[in-house]
Amino acid sequence: MALGTPELRHLKRVSRIKHLILTRYLPSWATILGSTFDLLYYVDCFAGPGRYESDGERVDGSAVLAVKAGKEFAARSPRKKLGIVLVDDDQVQLKQLEECLRSTLPYPGNFEVRTRLADSHTLIPKIIGQIRKRQTAPSFFLVDPYGHPLSLPVMNDMLALPRSELLINFMWYAKRFGAAYSDAFIGNFFGNAVLPIVLHEDPWYFQKGTGSKTRRFLWAASSTVWCKRDKGGWGPNYANVGGNLIGSAIARAYYPAPERTVSDTITDGLTVSAEGIVGAEVIEFWPDIERHFKQKHAEKLARRAAQRDALSGAHPASPSAPVAKPEN
Ligand SMILES: C[S@@+](CC[C@H](N)C(=O)[O-])C[C@H]1O[C@@H](n2cnc3c(N)ncnc32)[C@H](O)[C@@H]1O
Repeated sequence: MALGTPELRHLKRVSRIKHLILTRYLPSWATILGSTFDLLYYVDCFAGPGRYESDGERVDGSAVLAVKAGKEFAARSPRKKLGIVLVDDDQVQLKQLEECLRSTLPYPGNFEVRTRLADSHTLIPKIIGQIRKRQTAPSFFLVDPYGHPLSLPVMNDMLALPRSELLINFMWYAKRFGAAYSDAFIGNFFGNAVLPIVLHEDPWYFQKGTGSKTRRFLWAASSTVWCKRDKGGWGPNYANVGGNLIGSAIARAYYPAPERTVSDTITDGLTVSAEGIVGAEVIEFWPDIERHFKQKHAEKLARRAAQRDALSGAHPASPSAPVAKPEN
């Protein structure tokens, strides 16, 4: 008991911090993205029972916190839609969660909450596929298991969705092999979520789309260190670089002591920032690349059609080919 007590206390504090981040962050996430997009998704991949005891008090779990924040957002923004999916593979936990959610009813028509009794490892890839079909709908995933989180390819698929956010609780999974990836994820969360709100910066990349290729290249590269502000205007992108450094520092905490140096942390943070330049270039030039290939494809189809026409002109007996009338 004496050994277990400090660990339990520590866990409670960690969970409170996690819940505090969610409480502060979710309303801002919904408000900022809801100002541009009509449909948002929130997915709690390991939802839990919805309510806990902390220091003798009953406190809401992540799922109930999200539903309460979502309901407020939906009531404030009647033209926007918010869908929340809460997944847990434990029938008892899910039943308790559903009980807790009763106190949050009724919901406005633009707000939908679904609980799913399922193994997230199989259900979440399907949910990602469904969100992907909605194209631009921003999504927020909370990955907070007791044991193994979702696989890295699945979490990469989450991050590959447009305007997705991923909050992973690594507390139960602080294994060394996870560290190399955690810096990018945590950097993404701090750089794209927490710090932009605190610093009033807009973390999204704004595609230039016009002008010379060199100007567009420089514009995209500079987005790593230069960004839009909430009040309009532009300024240094403290959130991105700071978020990447925080992510690296947290990830380095999982490494053995000799590898936890300041210079390693800074190098990691700057490397992730430099990788961000590649991402920005891809976003900037992707429409050009897509257009190029679409045009090539259209030209190929046109060439084939012309060849077919030429051939059918030579063999007018073909049943499917329209027979051209000879000109007088
Ligand atoms: C740490 S608790 C979740 C806590 C919750 N996020 C909160 O902060 O209130 C982890 C939950 O994940 C569930 N779980 C574990 N493995 C799962 C899996 N493979 N698929 C879905 N749920 C799972 C457990 O039943 C448990 O309720």
